[in-house]
Amino acid sequence: MFNEIDFTKIDLTGQPPADETKRQYYFMGKIRELLARESAVLGRPVTYCLQTFGCQMNEKQSEVVAGIMDEMGFDRKESEDADIVIYNTCTVRENANLKVYGRLGKLHNLKKHNPDMKIILFGCMMQEPHVVDKIRNDYPFVDLVFGTHNIFRFAELFYEMKNRDSQLVEIWEGTEQIVEELPTERNYSFKSGVNIMFGCNNFCSYCIVPYVRGRERSREPEAIVNEVKSLVADGVTEVMLLGQNVNSYGKTLEHPVTFAQLLQMVEAVPGLHRIRFMTSHPKDLSDELIEYMGKSKKVCHHLHLPMQSGSSRILKLMNRRYDKEKYLELVQKIRGAVPDISLTTDIIVGFPGETEEDFLETLDVVDKSNFDTAFTFIYSKRSGTPAAKMEDQVPEDVVKDRFDRLLSLVQEKGRMVSSRFQGTVQEVLVETESKEKGIFTGRTQYNLLVHFPGTSDMLGKYIQVRLDTCKGFYYLGTAVTEQE
Ligand code: 5AD
Ligand code: SF4
Repeated sequence: MFNEIDFTKIDLTGQPPADETKRQYYFMGKIRELLARESAVLGRPVTYCLQTFGCQMNEKQSEVVAGIMDEMGFDRKESEDADIVIYNTCTVRENANLKVYGRLGKLHNLKKHNPDMKIILFGCMMQEPHVVDKIRNDYPFVDLVFGTHNIFRFAELFYEMKNRDSQLVEIWEGTEQIVEELPTERNYSFKSGVNIMFGCNNFCSYCIVPYVRGRERSREPEAIVNEVKSLVADGVTEVMLLGQNVNSYGKTLEHPVTFAQLLQMVEAVPGLHRIRFMTSHPKDLSDELIEYMGKSKKVCHHLHLPMQSGSSRILKLMNRRYDKEKYLELVQKIRGAVPDISLTTDIIVGFPGETEEDFLETLDVVDKSNFDTAFTFIYSKRSGTPAAKMEDQVPEDVVKDRFDRLLSLVQEKGRMVSSRFQGTVQEVLVETESKEKGIFTGRTQYNLLVHFPGTSDMLGKYIQVRLDTCKGFYYLGTAVTEQE
């Protein structure tokens, strides 16, 4: 769709155009010229490896970077012994940062054997000044560093990097700009994420996201619908609408639109079969949305509703702006309107000051809410956030013990809740063939994975599958009939 650029129509001899999209295509054209020469000298294609850490927003942005790399003529490979290695980084928890530093050590060795190798880092972690200082001082062999706000400038930055010997760093503090129509290389041909907004204004006290992703900005509904239409024309039947807090979508647009209204517009796109969205904040989940989910034909009956903690006292310290009762009320309300809903959540253990009583409140909400899955995280101190300065950080062994107790309850409940589908026939979208040949993996509208024997013509199709054996968070099944 966006990949059909006719480079013969771009004048590469003049100045770069002012229009941002055209400007980036101009630099893509310039690099294509450079690359053709390089590749001729090497006698082989020039390769790149792109790895993504973190969330689905990062996955989506990596698809743009991959689209630009492919457009410029590079060949993608999985392993890091490539000519160019690119990491899209995450910083939501310290672990994510440590992983990148560990990988950089290994890349340094590879680069010693291939001095022409280029190393590029971008994404959330690069928005933190102390990280950039460390890269400058301790990892001077990294060639290009950029952040989350200027990804659309990738082709131009790449061109600049090629024309210098020293490390190039370009980090923006924020941006109002949303650049549309850049090339995209999708991970799947039949499903795709669609950004509906960027940034976050909530400032939950533990979270680094508002500092690295900037203020909340919504895309115009027409731009979103047009993107969905072109995706559908290109074979996509399932979209995931992405934002840090989709329930506050559209509030700051010149002509405000609610998230439920946006869903309605997306639902009207012919040929689209399923709509998912991520992530919802309990404080902004509206009755209008709940009602819409109940009557929609395309919105999947799955809601990811991060609770973070079951203790009202901790929720207040987290600046979540709801309490335990409000959360439980919401769960009840959703189940009333959409009885077969699959609910999933995120929970943090060991937030500063969390007592055993607070933790028991969390277990209580897990017990009462019947989540299909809960993603559990050990609190990670992020410098610059209000929680990092809070006293009473919980000792590691106490946190570990709570984490284990939470995990076993979550797993026990999840297994019980997921078993409600035992023996039923469900429509699944077939996504991948597993390593074991002939075994395929599909996903129900409830986001539940099912492995079943099949054939490769089923990939990307909706198939009826009987769920025979519940294995906790996935099923083993049998294809019954093909639907589409
Ligand atoms: N420590 C642990 N978990 C965190 N999350 C966000 N910030 C932190 C942190 N500092 C979790 C939240 C969020 C999910 C994406 O990551 O549960 O919902
Ligand atoms: Fe972080 Fe809270 Fe924003 Fe989610 S809503 S990204 S947890 S600040």
